[in-house]
Amino acid sequence: MAKKITKAVIPAAGLGTRFLPATKAMPKEMLPVVDKPAIQYVVEEAVQAGLRDVLMITGRNKGALENHFDRVGELEATLEKKGDTERLEKVNHSTDLAEVHYVRQGDPLGLGHAVLRAHMHVGDEPFAVLLGDDIIDARDVLLSRMIEEQGKRNASIVALLEVDPAVAHLYGVATVEPTEDEDVVRITGLVEKPSPGTAPSNLAIIGRYVLRPEVFGILEHTAPGKGNEIQLTDALMTMAENPDETGGVYGVVFRGRRYDTGDRADYIRAIVQLAVDREDLGPELRPWLKDFVATLD
Ligand code: G1P
Repeated sequence: MAKKITKAVIPAAGLGTRFLPATKAMPKEMLPVVDKPAIQYVVEEAVQAGLRDVLMITGRNKGALENHFDRVGELEATLEKKGDTERLEKVNHSTDLAEVHYVRQGDPLGLGHAVLRAHMHVGDEPFAVLLGDDIIDARDVLLSRMIEEQGKRNASIVALLEVDPAVAHLYGVATVEPTEDEDVVRITGLVEKPSPGTAPSNLAIIGRYVLRPEVFGILEHTAPGKGNEIQLTDALMTMAENPDETGGVYGVVFRGRRYDTGDRADYIRAIVQLAVDREDLGPELRPWLKDFVATLD
């Protein structure tokens, strides 16, 4: 029987060079998406799926991250004195959201290496990995569906999204076989960031994984791959090739709303898409946006 999943691992050690100079003194995970730091959406998603034990893999200059999920006495006292309960609630929400732990990655040797740093904390249990660059719309279900499949199949599960073949080279790409479940496929092959035009399919891994702990032992022996980094995708390929020892790898095909905050244009798109849907901002922004778009031609 598969063990119950309680832990989420969030790699957050990247340097955020694509957003310089904004990320010169601030972690990229703290960039606001509308009015919340990107990382808070990801922690909220983990909590919504029942995972309140969160481990962040961080690095240097990530102090702001830790502060965001901690108390901030002075600010709380000021808001309390003013009777501004609405803002006080917003401040307390991120403090109380989850039990957040931190470990540093040390050397930046790749996503696989970052996940391996979680071994001590996670131990011998299946766990989730959520990458901060991908935001999944809170109105759509993904992680709990993946957790459900992990329990049912006792395998490792990745989230897949059908992407435009022109951008497949930016992702880990899967070769798959259908299963009896319409939204679940069995992974037969994985390749990390294939050269443009060579992707074996248009099914890309988006940054959500529910993994069996065997991944740690495999990561320890995974040689550097693409970009000379230890790739999680390569370790998953080894698991897919050895289903007897590892349970194999399956993909849940996601058809909901996903926002990419990893590069500048996508980040701006994410903010616009999320803001127009908000009750407090949408009514003001929609008509303006329509007028603005009309001026573009
Ligand atoms: C990572 C993974 C890649 C995956 C992507 C999803 O790449 O290595 O397999 O498709 O996340 O966002 P990164 O975008 O961090 O380079």
